[in-house]
Amino acid sequence: MRVDKPIISVLNGQRSKVPPLWLMRQAGRYLPEYRALRAKAGGFLDLVFNSEFAAEVTLQPIRRFGFDAAILFSDILVVPQALGQRVTFVAGEGPLLDPIKDRTDFTRLTSEVDQKVLAPVYETVRRVKADLPSGVALLGFCGAPWTVATYMIAGHGTPDQAPARMFAYRDAAAFDVLMDVLVEASAAYLVKQLQAGADAVQIFDTWAGVLPPEQFVRWSIAPTKRIVALVREQIPGAKIIGFPRGAGSQLPRYVAESGVDAVGLDWMIDRTFAKERVQSAVPVQGNLDPLVLLAGGAALDRAVDAVLEAFSDGPFIFNLGHGILPETPINHVEQMLKRVRGA
Ligand code: CP3
Repeated sequence: MRVDKPIISVLNGQRSKVPPLWLMRQAGRYLPEYRALRAKAGGFLDLVFNSEFAAEVTLQPIRRFGFDAAILFSDILVVPQALGQRVTFVAGEGPLLDPIKDRTDFTRLTSEVDQKVLAPVYETVRRVKADLPSGVALLGFCGAPWTVATYMIAGHGTPDQAPARMFAYRDAAAFDVLMDVLVEASAAYLVKQLQAGADAVQIFDTWAGVLPPEQFVRWSIAPTKRIVALVREQIPGAKIIGFPRGAGSQLPRYVAESGVDAVGLDWMIDRTFAKERVQSAVPVQGNLDPLVLLAGGAALDRAVDAVLEAFSDGPFIFNLGHGILPETPINHVEQMLKRVRGA
C-alpha cells in the first residue's frame, strides 16, 4: 500500500500539520450534479448498482472540493439486499424492507451474501480507483451488524430502534444468529472492496448510541471486533475506521477491544474526553456538527476552530460528526474548507 496519501499517513498514526479532510455523505443531495445524475438513473439503487454512474457520483465531490478521500458511493443496505431481503428506497421516506418479526422470517434470508448482487459495487471501486488523483484515498464501507439489523428488523428507519432492541431482548439467541450472518457478510463485503482497490474501509455503527452498556458490548463491540479480525485474516494490515455514533463514555472500550485503527467521533462527544481517552490511543476523525455547517457564518468559523484546536496536536482527520445534511449550501462547505486548510 502506498503511504503518500495524507489520510493513510494519519491512519498509520502520523500527525499532519493541516489535517486531511473528507465528509460523511459527501456524495449526495446537497450537490446539484448529484441530483441531476440521480434523476437520470431512476431509483436510488439503480444509481448504486450502475457502476458508471456510481463512480461518477463518487468523484463529484473530489472534483468540486478537492477532498483528501473519496467514499465509495453505495449504501449499507446493499448487504441485506445481497442476503435476499428486498430493499427499496422511497423518495423522501428512506429505505423500506420486509420487516423481520421473528426467527421464522430468517427463512427468507440466505446465509451468505450473493456476490453477484454486489459485483457492480466492486466494479465501481475499480473505476474510481483508476480515475482518482494519487494523493486521494478511496474509502470503502459497510454498516456495522447492529445498525444494519435495526433496518432489517423494523423494515424502515426509526428514531430509537425499538423493534431491534425488543427483538434482541425477547430472543437473544435468534438475534445472535442474525449477527453471525451479518458479521460474515460484512467481512466478505469489505475484503472484496479492499481487493478491488479501496485504501481503507469504515464501519458505520450509526445506531450504536441507543444501546445500554452491556448490549453495546455484545451487539456493537463484539461483532465489530470479529469483522476486524476476519478482514485482517485475509488482508493483513487492512486499515479500518470504526464509527460507533453515540458511543460516548464507551468509546475507549470500543477502541481497545474492537481493534479498529481509527475512530470517527460524533458531534456530541466531549472533546477533552475524546482527546485524552481516545486520541491518545488511536487517530480520530470528526467531529463538526452537521447543523453548524448548515448554519454557516461566524458560528461555523468558531466551530471549525474548536475542532481544530481540540485535535490538531495528534493524528487527526477533519470530518463531520455525522452525514452532511441535504440542505447544506455549497458555499458553507467552501468556507469550512478554507478555514481548515488556512488558505
Ligand atoms: O457519500 C457517501 O458518504 C457515500 C455513500 C453513502 C450513502 N449511504 C448514500 C446514500 C453512505 C456511506 C451511506 C451510509 C448509510 N446508509 C448509513 C450509515 C451512515 C449514516 O448516514 O447514518 C445508513 C444508516 C444508511 C441507510 C440509509 N440510506 C438511509 C437511512 C437513507 C435514507 C435517508 C437519507 O439520507 O435519504 C439512505 C439513502 C441514501 N444513502 C442516500 C444517499 C446519497 C439518499 C438517497 C437519495 O438520493 O434519494
